[in-house]
Amino acid sequence: MSHAVELRGIVKRFGTFVANDCVDLVVKAGEIHAIVGENGAGKTTLMNVLFGLLQPDGGEILIDGKPIVVANPRAAIAAGLGMVHQHFKLVPSLTVAENVFLGMERGRAGFVDHKAQIAETERLSRDFGLKVDPTEQVGLLSVGIEQRIEILKVLARGARIIILDEPTAVLTPQESRELFQTLRGFVAQGMTVIFITHHLEEVMAVSDTVTVLRLGRKVDTRPTADVTKNDLVQMMVGRSVSFDRRQREPSTGGTVLSVKDLWCRDDRGLPAVRGVSFDVRAGEVVGIAGVAGNGQTELAEVLSGLRPASHGTFRIHGEDLTAASPRRIRDTGVAHVPGDRVVRGVDRQSSIAANILMGRQDTPPWARGSLIDWAVVRERSSEMMERFDVRASGPDALVKSLSGGNMQKVVLAREFSHDADFLLVDQPTRGVDIGATESIHNEIMRQRADGRAILLISVQLDELIALADRILVMFNGLIMGELPGDSVSEEALGLLMAGVQTGPDRAAVA
Ligand SMILES: Nc1ncnc2c1ncn2[C@@H]1O[C@H](COP(=O)(O)OP(=O)(O)OP(=O)(O)O)[C@@H](O)[C@H]1O
Ligand SMILES: [Mg+2]
Repeated sequence: MSHAVELRGIVKRFGTFVANDCVDLVVKAGEIHAIVGENGAGKTTLMNVLFGLLQPDGGEILIDGKPIVVANPRAAIAAGLGMVHQHFKLVPSLTVAENVFLGMERGRAGFVDHKAQIAETERLSRDFGLKVDPTEQVGLLSVGIEQRIEILKVLARGARIIILDEPTAVLTPQESRELFQTLRGFVAQGMTVIFITHHLEEVMAVSDTVTVLRLGRKVDTRPTADVTKNDLVQMMVGRSVSFDRRQREPSTGGTVLSVKDLWCRDDRGLPAVRGVSFDVRAGEVVGIAGVAGNGQTELAEVLSGLRPASHGTFRIHGEDLTAASPRRIRDTGVAHVPGDRVVRGVDRQSSIAANILMGRQDTPPWARGSLIDWAVVRERSSEMMERFDVRASGPDALVKSLSGGNMQKVVLAREFSHDADFLLVDQPTRGVDIGATESIHNEIMRQRADGRAILLISVQLDELIALADRILVMFNGLIMGELPGDSVSEEALGLLMAGVQTGPDRAAVA
């Protein structure tokens, strides 16, 4: 079999830090090649080098057996490469077709031929089974559809070798299955796929070959059929990791959060949450499951003061906070890990220490009066980096230089160290490697043992099953049902998530 991509001895340094240390990689034409490794192992860096976004400090790149210099992404695209990034880059005010052809508009003499662009988008969409409406405005679409558009963009530029960086991190299980069908379709047509993931079940289910990176070096490349999940964990982390359901005694604590008949609207003004009521008690983890777009995000936004409720109330320790500001809600004792770390979770331009300080600029010992004590901030930040396993040179490192998973750990370190009675935790392990996922799960259980009330929103059913005392399933803005965390099956959850309350024969749909 010929080689679609061959990397020989790629070295990439940032200052004195070696992110890729003489990495060799062979990707055969027509295969699905998975790349795995801990946060900061150098996966994104290696793909950015291949795609011409970074220039290597050493090594060679061959595409289809021919050595090339990938001076920039334009050169990569000309060589047949396409890349779907960890964070999407679409223009919300443009239509689907306009986004697909952005920067390579069809037309003549400065006039965009919208008809041609729509027709071409439709053709690609049909040929590759990526369902979209070319005339729809992108700003209103779900992340699953945004990703389809990113893939269509790559296809419209003629890519034959497609790189996807953590494509499933933002997808629901259903959307992930659809994506994998699409990827299989690509290789069936002779294309080659490279994808980065933290989910080993995905590696086992869809890849032909898997490469493990660790601390900037390649550990091994193996046919997927020859390895087990445990082998991969060992290669990635150097130890085994437990994913068992956690032991949990029922909570006997008092009610901390009480939500009554709560309603709110989405960005388009349509009802997103339609009359939900539930309590979360001290020392309890209540999970919220559901396919994305069924009101979970809006619910979290209302509870953190970022979106107004249109009806109903929520209280913390009996205090009505329905109309309170985010600041007041936080001061009352609510910590919030937002679902989208890039938009709201961190200030990328600032240091880790400055990010950990956020929200306590006038709280001793972080500050005396209005004067911030940076020595204390740095020392505390170092302690938290240790406890949450944030991999970086130190508390002064800029957040934008961190790998995706390490950014997420900074948000968790900040929020979990607040003295809050209620933790609102949205997708805490999105983009986080398996070793760190285990430590985040441990930390959630430690917070629970300390008597905190925790609302855990996750699209990952195994995470909810592992941690939650009770799981509420949201569908179309309603709570469809409540299941006990320690005995529920993924199938039962899947049914409720699809909006089916009875009739197990429809389970296959989910
Ligand atoms: N522009 C940069 N400046 C300084 N250091 C960087 C830069 N980009 C990446 N790094 C460092 O290089 C290492 C590898 O980062 P990379 O983003 O490749 O990791 P990754 O394997 O993709 O991790 P993740 O799973 O968290 O996305 C990290 O330690 C990161 O902090
Ligand atoms: Mg990465």
